[in-house]
Parts: sequence; C-alpha cells; structure tokens
Amino acid sequence: MGSLLPVSLLVLLAAAYRGGGGARWRRAARAPGPGGSSPTPSETSVPFWVRINPEFKAVPPGGSVWLNCSSSCPLPENSSLSTRLRRGRTHSGPGWVSYELVDVRAWSSEVRCFVTCAGETRGATAKITAYKQPQSVILDPPVLVGSEYTLRCHVTHVFPVGFLVVTLRRGGRVIYSENLERFTRLDLANVTLTYTLPARPRDLLQPVTCHARLSLDGLVVRSSSAPMTLTVLAWSPAPKVLASTSIAVVVGILLVVGAAYLRKWLLMQSPGRGGGGP
Ligand SMILES: *[C@@H]1O[C@H](CO)[C@@H](O)[C@H](O)[C@H]1NC(C)=O
Ligand SMILES: *[C@@H]1O[C@H](CO)[C@@H](O)[C@H](O)[C@H]1NC(C)=O
Ligand SMILES: *[C@@H]1O[C@H](CO)[C@@H](O)[C@H](O)[C@H]1NC(C)=O
Repeated sequence: MGSLLPVSLLVLLAAAYRGGGGARWRRAARAPGPGGSSPTPSETSVPFWVRINPEFKAVPPGGSVWLNCSSSCPLPENSSLSTRLRRGRTHSGPGWVSYELVDVRAWSSEVRCFVTCAGETRGATAKITAYKQPQSVILDPPVLVGSEYTLRCHVTHVFPVGFLVVTLRRGGRVIYSENLERFTRLDLANVTLTYTLPARPRDLLQPVTCHARLSLDGLVVRSSSAPMTLTVLAWSPAPKVLASTSIAVVVGILLVVGAAYLRKWLLMQSPGRGGGGP
C-alpha cells in the first residue's frame, strides 16, 4: 500500500476570471482607522450593547452584503463602520444603521461597527468571506499508458485557490492529496491536477474519485466528482497530452494563465465520458 510513487504531478491553474487581474486586493491588515482605535474610557459608564448582524457571511467574489449594526443606546452620539471593503448604501432607523458593502473580493475581511453612547464607544465585529464553490469537479476516465494510469481531475471556477485541497481516492482510500496554499492569486480559477498511479491488477475495477475541499474560516465546502473505474481498456491518449505531462514532470508545477489548455482538454473529454468500450 505504501508504494504510491507519485511520478508526475501537474497542476494547471488558469485564471478564469476576467477583470480581476489588475484589481487591488485589500488584505486583512491592521490599518490606522480614522477613529475608535482606543475608545476613551468614561467615568460615567452607561451599560449598552452593540450588535452586528450577521456576524458571519460568505458571499461570491464580487458580491455584496448588508450588515445591520444596532445598539441599545437610547441616544447614540455616533455610529461608524470600520472596514477595508468598499461601501455601498446606508439605511438607518432608530437604534440601527444598516451598511451595504460591495464588491467583496478579499477572501476574509473583518468589519467593525462602533457606537458612541454617553461618551463611551463600543464595537461589534463581523467576518465576511468571499468564496466560490467549484462549478464542477470532473475526473477524466483514467488513461492507462504502459504500466501507469494517468488520473486527471479538473476543478473549475473555484475561489480562493489557496484554500483548496484536492484529493484523489481509490476505493474510498486517499491515494493523493494536494494542498494548494502556495497559490496566492486571488482569481477565480480552473485547477487541473494530474497524478500518475502505478497499475496493479488488484486495483482493476476499483472506483476512483476526486474531491475538492475549500476550508475557510468556519466554513468547509466540499464537492466531489463522479466515480471513474480503473479498467484495462486503455483510453488512447493524444500525443500532446503526454508531452504536457512530461513537461510537468520537469517543472513540477506549471502555472498557466489562459484557456487554451483546458479548453482543449474539455473538448477531448466530452465524447469520451462513460465506460462504454467494447
Ligand atoms: C463620529 O465618527 C466619525 C467617524 O469615526 C468621526 O470622524 C467623528 O469625529 C465622530 N463624531 C463624534 C461626535 O464622535
Ligand atoms: C436592523 O436591526 C434592527 C434591530 O434588530 C431592526 O429593528 C431593523 O429592522 C434592522 N434593519 C434592517 C434594514 O434589517
Ligand atoms: C474553466 O472551466 C470552464 C468550465 O469547464 C470553462 O468554460 C472555461 O473556459 C475555463 N476557463 C479557463 C480560463 O480555462
């Protein structure tokens, strides 16, 4: 069981998201806020609470969210929001202010709202996460070349890639798992993982699956491919495929920005799905 021999691994990462390239990504860092970094302690402290609702929200990249900041202060002197996200509209009523945040792209952002009541300032914090569950997780039919299967898994339209783990399982057991945390690009992406598995007779007819897991703050999103069976009926590969795999062996990890490769793959895969060979 221990001899997995990861002969080649190729991760193709394609920025699938136009318009994100030159964007300025705001990172969760400490910034000198315009106010409220050190609330002035007051001697005549009035008990009051400040709430922000929701406290956690996950949105698609570029999406928007409304946060309602409310307090029990009968006469708030001031109410403000501290965030690096872009602001949209604001609505308010007695004891509450609702803020819209737009174009959320940072994978994790902290938003604080402050209310000043009788000279005392209190705050509440919300966390906003931008993520995109993979549109699809597709495992190509395993290709047998010589004494090795090539397993290729496509995870499309996923964000943020740095929080993605792609796992291959054979008969339910993990045969390979890859954490993509080194990919720090903040784009929606297509990821293709290629793994070479030595062919063994006892693995024949075993189902292989590919799993994508996004682990964000307090949120785990899982998607899986349909199972593929390891067969001896070789699904004949195109020569170019082998070439790109061997390049990958040399380079290890290939970062490709552009649609050409993946589109070629998808075109080649589409007629070959299912194991209806003779
Ligand atoms: C209200 O909050 C804003 C933004 O934090 C700040 O500039 C202003 O001085 C505050 N006003 C009062 C009365 O606290
Ligand atoms: C904000 O919260 C307050 C207090 O819970 C509520 O009365 C108000 O309707 C909410 N406003 C919006 C726009 O949801
Ligand atoms: C990513 O995958 C999707 C869905 O398969 C495809 O339509 C799109 O062209 C791909 N994008 C790139 C940049 O390869």
